Amino acid sequence: MTLAMKKNNRRAFLGTMTAGVAASCLGPLRDAQGAFHEALDALPTDMDFADASELYSLGEGVTYFNHASIGTMPRVVQAARRTYLDLCETNPWLYMWGPAWGEKVEETRRVVAEFIGSTPQELAIVHNTTEAFNTLASGLPLGPGDEVLFSSMNHAGASVCWNHHAPQRGFTVRRFEFPIERADRMTADEIVARYLEQIKPETRMLVIPHIDNMVGLRYPVKQLAAAARRLGVQYIAVDGAQSIGMIPVDVNDLGVDFYATSAHKWLQSPKGLGLLHVKKEIQDEVRAMWVTWGQGRWGGTARVYEDYGTRNRAELLTLEDCVRFQMKLGLEARQSHFKALHRHLHQRVEETKGLAWRSPQTWEDGCSLVAIEVEGHASGDVFDHLYEQHGFVFRAFGGDLNTMRISLNVMNTTDEIDRFVQLIKDEILA
Ligand SMILES: Cc1ncc(COP(=O)(O)O)c(C=O)c1O
Repeated sequence: MTLAMKKNNRRAFLGTMTAGVAASCLGPLRDAQGAFHEALDALPTDMDFADASELYSLGEGVTYFNHASIGTMPRVVQAARRTYLDLCETNPWLYMWGPAWGEKVEETRRVVAEFIGSTPQELAIVHNTTEAFNTLASGLPLGPGDEVLFSSMNHAGASVCWNHHAPQRGFTVRRFEFPIERADRMTADEIVARYLEQIKPETRMLVIPHIDNMVGLRYPVKQLAAAARRLGVQYIAVDGAQSIGMIPVDVNDLGVDFYATSAHKWLQSPKGLGLLHVKKEIQDEVRAMWVTWGQGRWGGTARVYEDYGTRNRAELLTLEDCVRFQMKLGLEARQSHFKALHRHLHQRVEETKGLAWRSPQTWEDGCSLVAIEVEGHASGDVFDHLYEQHGFVFRAFGGDLNTMRISLNVMNTTDEIDRFVQLIKDEILA
């Protein structure tokens, strides 16, 4: 056999092997996804949310009111994730580097992008909101004479990165006090006005939460972004850690440049998955934070912001399943349930002497994350008691706020709320 023939044979063999291997790689993945879809199909179309806790695996004795800190995966998504992880271990090289799963990642990106009103070219799948903001703070062309502006309602994950880069790069950072004590009665116009009065000629970058993490105020992002641009603000970035998966979001319609979120909260994904939307027109202006070989091939897409070498493809694939699960429950139905829980909790708080509501009055102005004060009691002590004695999990905010942050998702019920309020009445306020 000549050398040329040997080479041709080898190429032919590799060709068959690749095709064979790709098929053997896709087969089990299709089976796994088939099993996921079967499990979804088996769920009732008109879900009674009173039974929704069966869809999750929260522990016996745990009443989980802390979805704003970290979400919990639905059982069907947990099963899909396990299958992908197990599959990956049967031939790690194939699944981590082979083309078949690479294509599935792109399918996942497409589904998730559509869900939030982004496009596959504009969406990076990152680890979380904090990483997304680090990318912006390190990569935007900001320098002397430029100001980054945000309010005291910003989460540290969307804030500290700017302070970190400012001294070296020469831009300034200004944080203004937002009247959080007015959150229970603030109109959209007032929110916009509070931001606009802070914008100066040097303000080039504005960072706003879509929903803040303390009182759950919903910011009129579209209105604010348009008004800020009229005053000359060039870049507008939104922290959507508390919104994607909780309220409907169409990032393109908002008219902002950047939108970041952590999928492990309201989208109930595996921990350590997030999204960064970067508007196509300005991708050239944002340098990637992670740099590695071969990154040039992602030019013209936001994928350049997520490429840091080897990553856990198996977990990433479950993002699509998280979206499909939410759609199966029905976006309208979920929202009706959220609103009903909000109304119920609000009513119970209003009728209970010693409890004070510190969030917007309606779900539409606020959301599924609310702040309640137990007057005369430190929120940390209230948490210690209710968690240790009764298994209630929520976040306690100390200091001036002194509130319990209650964040409710589909598996929560009005019975849980009643029990919670009754325990506070009997064991704390009595
Ligand atoms: C509004 C907001 N932004 C950012 C973050 C940071 O999220 P992560 O740690 O997932 O980056 C949080 C976390 O609670 C948050 O509530």
